[in-house]
Amino acid sequence: MIICANFKANKTRQETQAYMAVVESFVGANDISDTIMVFPPFTALEHLSRNVLIGVQNAYPAKNGAYTGEIALEQLEEFGIKTILIGHSERRHILGETQEVIAEKFRFFSTHGFAIVYCVGEPLEVRQAGTEALMNYIEAQCIGIDLEYKDLILAYEPVWAIGTGLTPSMEDIRELHTALRAKTTAPILYGGSVKVDNAAQIMAIENVDGILVGSAALSANDFCTMIADASQLNTKTGE
Ligand code: PGA
Repeated sequence: MIICANFKANKTRQETQAYMAVVESFVGANDISDTIMVFPPFTALEHLSRNVLIGVQNAYPAKNGAYTGEIALEQLEEFGIKTILIGHSERRHILGETQEVIAEKFRFFSTHGFAIVYCVGEPLEVRQAGTEALMNYIEAQCIGIDLEYKDLILAYEPVWAIGTGLTPSMEDIRELHTALRAKTTAPILYGGSVKVDNAAQIMAIENVDGILVGSAALSANDFCTMIADASQLNTKTGE
């Protein structure tokens, strides 16, 4: 299982340090073999070797240069960062990233050997338009993306489920993940209103290889509970 926390624009550097201390000691003490990733804000990056992978929520696809307000490869290398989130719905819809820009980021960071958590997911009106519309929409979000890239992790996050407390039914998640499984051998995460009380149930669904959690992962203890749920599932399935 792969369990990820996306902080978005939350937590200071100090709060992130306190959070990491809790999560790292939990992962160490419980001998967790699952992959744990945390995506803090840029200001909280540090150069430390960890039992938890640290990634960035975004970066500009260049080594360095005149890209006001962005950070690029050189700044990530300073912190040993090799993991990035690309295509998150907030980058697509709030920051206006087009599929072209997203595909360019994917090309650049895959060329540089990054592990890429690549997000796809539909708005509510697309979901309501039926399965064909939904699959076409997700297909369009995969244009220019190498779905067989060796360090790809795909994350399915319906836009209408992110930060809303709404989730698709377990059967809808299963169906969508099964359809995605036909397109890639990469691990497939579910994201969108994952909470302590539904994480185990979601991770138990066929073709769900982990979770990408926003607001419910802001509590280190809750995130640890979800990590424990994942390792419990491994024990059951004998992984
Ligand atoms: P949420 O966010 O868990 O707060 O819904 C998930 C995400 O945006 O990755």
